[in-house]
Amino acid sequence: KSVVHRLWKGSVSVGMLSPRLQRAVKDYLSANKHGVAYKGRRSARQKGKQLLCEMKRKSRVRTLDGAELPFSKLGWKRIVPASPLQQLYGSRFGSCAVVTSAGAILHSGLGKEIDSHDAVLRFNSAPTEGYERDVGNKTTIRIINSQILANPGYHFNTSSLYKNVTLVAWDPAPYAVNLHKWYSSPDYNLFTPYIEHRKHFPAQPFYILHPKFIWQLWDVIQGNTLENIQPNPPSSGFIGIMLMMSLCEEVHVYEYIPSLRQTDLCHYHERYYDAACTLGAYHPLLYEKGAISILDLAEEAHGPSRDTRLSLGLAPPTT
Ligand code: C5P
Repeated sequence: KSVVHRLWKGSVSVGMLSPRLQRAVKDYLSANKHGVAYKGRRSARQKGKQLLCEMKRKSRVRTLDGAELPFSKLGWKRIVPASPLQQLYGSRFGSCAVVTSAGAILHSGLGKEIDSHDAVLRFNSAPTEGYERDVGNKTTIRIINSQILANPGYHFNTSSLYKNVTLVAWDPAPYAVNLHKWYSSPDYNLFTPYIEHRKHFPAQPFYILHPKFIWQLWDVIQGNTLENIQPNPPSSGFIGIMLMMSLCEEVHVYEYIPSLRQTDLCHYHERYYDAACTLGAYHPLLYEKGAISILDLAEEAHGPSRDTRLSLGLAPPTT
């Protein structure tokens, strides 16, 4: 538990991780699988408001629209939904919930509060059935990584988890965002199942995030961290928070910044224990959380009183 407090009150550092996780970070840094070549600044912490503005400025949500090669040549303009994600819901949601899948949300009793928001974002294969008391049962948007689409074990085509919601998929592309390279060798092949799904369920809103968007988010995290962060895309959780910041006036994030219930239990819906799920190995999670914890404007004003949620009161829309 002391880790939580050291972690979220000061700046984060790789030294806070266990030797095993430190080694994992080192290995990912030297592998640099996605060819990251960061040329921007690396600055110390900004104030919450400044960082929030930077994030809003630099993290405009972008999804594949079929206008770029190779997608344009392959007829993707007719494959992607006609309405862009940003316009799908007409106006912005008032208040939104981002429900991370952390084991620490178990026994939180937060379900009712989560469902009271105008929109609820969930991740990957995280269920609500059987966990309603702690996580609620409303799902507006589900972010899924490419493994969900590519790995038959997730039953993407038949599971009710992926029905009656807006789907937003993503896959790690090279840092240089070469769409040809990405299309011919994605991390997991999400393109074929995506096209199939669009054909079978054309009415269901289903988008693929543009890799440019993903790496822009990574740049913001690295730009606000002095240490070299893992050269891998941010976690779905971070991507989801940024996505909801553009769709909602207010974003409430559940169990991303660990609460007093922090645990090594990876997911609330699985009996699997690994601190990497909360602190990161492949994803630069520790640094993501370091950045997000600075955004807690309410905490800046009132001190660290709450133990479970992080609320981002966002500035009113500028347009
Ligand atoms: O594991 P998965 O990516 O499906 O979980 C969704 C998101 O929830 C993660 O990307 C991460 O941001 C967050 N999470 C967390 N701590 C955990 C498990 C998940 O912060 N123990």
